[in-house]
Amino acid sequence: MRSQLFATKSIAEIEKADASGQQQLHRTLSATALTLLGIGGIIGTGIFVLTGTAAANHAGPALPLSFVVAGIGSAFAGLCYAEFAAMIPVTGSAYSYSYATLGEAIAWFIGWNLILEYLFAVATVSVGWSGYVLSLLDQFGIHLPYALSHAPFAQGAQDSFKVIRTGAILNVPAAAIVAVLATICYIGIRQTSAFNSVIVVIKVAVVLMFIFLGIGYIQHSNWHPFIPPNTGTFGLYGWSGVLSASGVIFFAYIGFDAISTTAQETKNPQRDMPVGILSSLVVCTILYVAVSAVLTGMVSYKELNVAAPLAVALDAYPSLLWLGLPIKIGAIAGMTSVMLVMTLAQARIFLSMSQDGLLPKVFGRVHPKFRTPSTGTVVTGTCAAIIGGLFPVGILGELVSIGTLSAFVTVCIGVLVLRYTRPDLHRPFKAPWPWFTCIAGAVICFGMMAFLPISTWIRLAVWTVIGALVYVFYGYHHSQVRARLLADQPVRSPAS
Ligand code: ALA
Repeated sequence: MRSQLFATKSIAEIEKADASGQQQLHRTLSATALTLLGIGGIIGTGIFVLTGTAAANHAGPALPLSFVVAGIGSAFAGLCYAEFAAMIPVTGSAYSYSYATLGEAIAWFIGWNLILEYLFAVATVSVGWSGYVLSLLDQFGIHLPYALSHAPFAQGAQDSFKVIRTGAILNVPAAAIVAVLATICYIGIRQTSAFNSVIVVIKVAVVLMFIFLGIGYIQHSNWHPFIPPNTGTFGLYGWSGVLSASGVIFFAYIGFDAISTTAQETKNPQRDMPVGILSSLVVCTILYVAVSAVLTGMVSYKELNVAAPLAVALDAYPSLLWLGLPIKIGAIAGMTSVMLVMTLAQARIFLSMSQDGLLPKVFGRVHPKFRTPSTGTVVTGTCAAIIGGLFPVGILGELVSIGTLSAFVTVCIGVLVLRYTRPDLHRPFKAPWPWFTCIAGAVICFGMMAFLPISTWIRLAVWTVIGALVYVFYGYHHSQVRARLLADQPVRSPAS
């Protein structure tokens, strides 16, 4: 048992399993398509929704600093992802990287947490998407019935486990958009990438419009004091507020890692993966810092504790009111591509885990005609539609962040481990100063985990226990590595 938990898969083994038989996916993505997929997966709820509460409740006008802190943590993790993705260009991403470095048990833990990241992110963002669509429809005089446009359950109080009934039946728009996007992912990677590129152009254009038109309306008085004094409570302004806000808006950076799951669909993954991951991260960091600086300059941070903070800033200036509609459309577009990229990534994680025997074979089915992980896509779409249709955004969002951060910490450690255990491996891209980059990445990401509420940690613990049970009762017995170990050591009993 012990040896199986710590058994690693060789990189050749992982690549062989990934590319086996008829299961090959289509190699169509270029570096530009990857960068667009990255931006597609990154810019969404974080910038259009969470910036307001992070500024109003934690950082004040210093919000751009929080974006820089979260950006630095993500950049270190991004460099590590880039090294791994170029060296082991397989669909399993962080799950496969940890299988190659830290052993089966950690790989299972990371794969299970990636479900928390991708599947739950689709559900979370679908709820935000539904909110924006309802408000857009309202603007045009179309009013959907409450019972069919809201979640039937809500969180009892901030940071509590109590769930209350809202009287609604199902958030139909949230469930419907997930179903539509899963269908696109089912049909093909090329279609998904093309659809994503159009959406990315729309949302980046809208963000740039906000920056360049809003810049002229900055009132310097809104930036003073830049870091409001701490109120005496940890996390309420001051430097602790800046750091707490970075934990909240970390959600805005999630997504660049998702493109590493398309390594088998990339024309030249060794070269294109690092380019795609790092350039999408750089573009988004610049946009985020600029948007948050303009936003907190246009209106006082005290007015931003709302679901649509960019709209509040525009409402303050009658000459900018016309921008409200394009911003709503940009936000809806942004969230759409986030869900698309996350659905894509989740289906590919299922595929890898099933090929390794840790999940049932059916999760690894590749569609004979479309060459997409069809069953994984259907399972992702169905689960995310149900969760997004039934639950509110608050319960889901922080779970996504903690699951992602735990994967980032593991990837940072894994890169360092492999530099020492396998110095001989060909590394088309190397993270610079590995001791510094990997350790700083792991420490900053763990620090952001530490700033998340205790209830989120408890939910992570519950999720981990469920995962451990699935592993003990299924994955452990069906693992390909177990089969190899038993074949190598036939004298051992099956239970060893
Ligand atoms: N980064 C993605 C978003 O902000 C998850 O919606």
